[in-house]
Amino acid sequence: MIAGDCLTVLREMPADLIDLIVTSPPYADSRKQTYGGIHPDRYVEWFLPIADELARVLKPEGTFILNIKEKALGGERHTYVIETILGMRKQGWLWTEEFIWHKRNCYPGKWPNRFRDAWERCLQFNKQAKFNMYQEQVMVPMGDWAKTRLANLSETDKRRDESKVKSGFGKNVSKWVGRALVYPTNVLHFATESSNRNHSAAFPFALPEWFIKLFTREGDLVLDPFLGSGTTAIAAKSLGRGYLGIDIKQEYIDLTNEALRNPRRRAHSPSGAK
Ligand SMILES: C[S@@+](CC[C@H](N)C(=O)[O-])C[C@H]1O[C@@H](n2cnc3c(N)ncnc32)[C@H](O)[C@@H]1O
Repeated sequence: MIAGDCLTVLREMPADLIDLIVTSPPYADSRKQTYGGIHPDRYVEWFLPIADELARVLKPEGTFILNIKEKALGGERHTYVIETILGMRKQGWLWTEEFIWHKRNCYPGKWPNRFRDAWERCLQFNKQAKFNMYQEQVMVPMGDWAKTRLANLSETDKRRDESKVKSGFGKNVSKWVGRALVYPTNVLHFATESSNRNHSAAFPFALPEWFIKLFTREGDLVLDPFLGSGTTAIAAKSLGRGYLGIDIKQEYIDLTNEALRNPRRRAHSPSGAK
C-alpha cells in the first residue's frame, strides 16, 4: 500500500504489470474538499493524465473498472463522465461496457426536481477487444425466469432468432430451459455499506469482489489507485489475488494495512447480479 498522489506513484510503476484496476476516484465536488473533491469543470483535465498512466501499467489483456456518477450542478446533470469517456477513447481506451450498480438499500427522499439517486456507473475500459474474462465465475441461479419467461416459449424462442434490428445478436431462448445457473445481466444489485465503515465513500465489498472474480484468476494483481478504506485490496486478498493500493491520505493506508492484517471473518457476499 503506497501513500501519495496516484499520478506521481503510477509514473514510477513498470508498464504492463496489473491485471485489473477497480477504483472509485474522489467525487467531483463544487463545494467541499472532502477526499480531495475536484470541481466538476476541472474533472476531465484532472483525470485524463491518471487514465493515461493506468493504461500504461495495465496488461494488454487487463480491464479497468471505473466507478463514477455525475453530479447535478445548477439544476442539471454535469457532463464530466461523458467527457471523460470521450477523452479516454481518444487516449486509446476501448469503452467496452457499462455496468449499473443499483444500490438496493437506497431509502426514500425528496428533491425539488429529481428523484433519489439509487445507481452509479461502473464503466469498463480495455486496451484491446480481446481481454481476460471468466464468465462462469459469476453465474447466478436461474430464479424466476424458469417460472415466467422460460415457461411460455414462443416458436421463435425455440430456434436461433436473428435480431430484427440487424445487430448480429441471435438467441435461442429454449436452450436455457432446465438449467440451474445462467449468466448475469449488467445490472448489479448491491447494498451500500458505508454507514458501518471508516470511510464515508466506501463501496461495498461485493462490488470489487464481483469484478475480481469476473476478470482475474488466483495470483493475478489488482490495483486500486484511490484506495480509501481498502475495500478493493481486502476483497482481492480474500480471493487469493495480489493487490496494490494508492491513497493520498496516510490515514487510509494505515486503515487498510490494519484491515489486511486483521481480516474480520466476512460472510460470503451473494452475487448481486441478475
Ligand atoms: C471515493 S474514495 C474511495 C473509496 C474506496 N473505494 C473505499 O471503498 O473505501 C476516494 C479516495 O481517493 C483518495 N484520493 C483523492 N485524491 C487522490 C489522489 N490524487 N491520489 C490518490 N488518492 C487520492 C481519497 O483520499 C479517498 O480516500
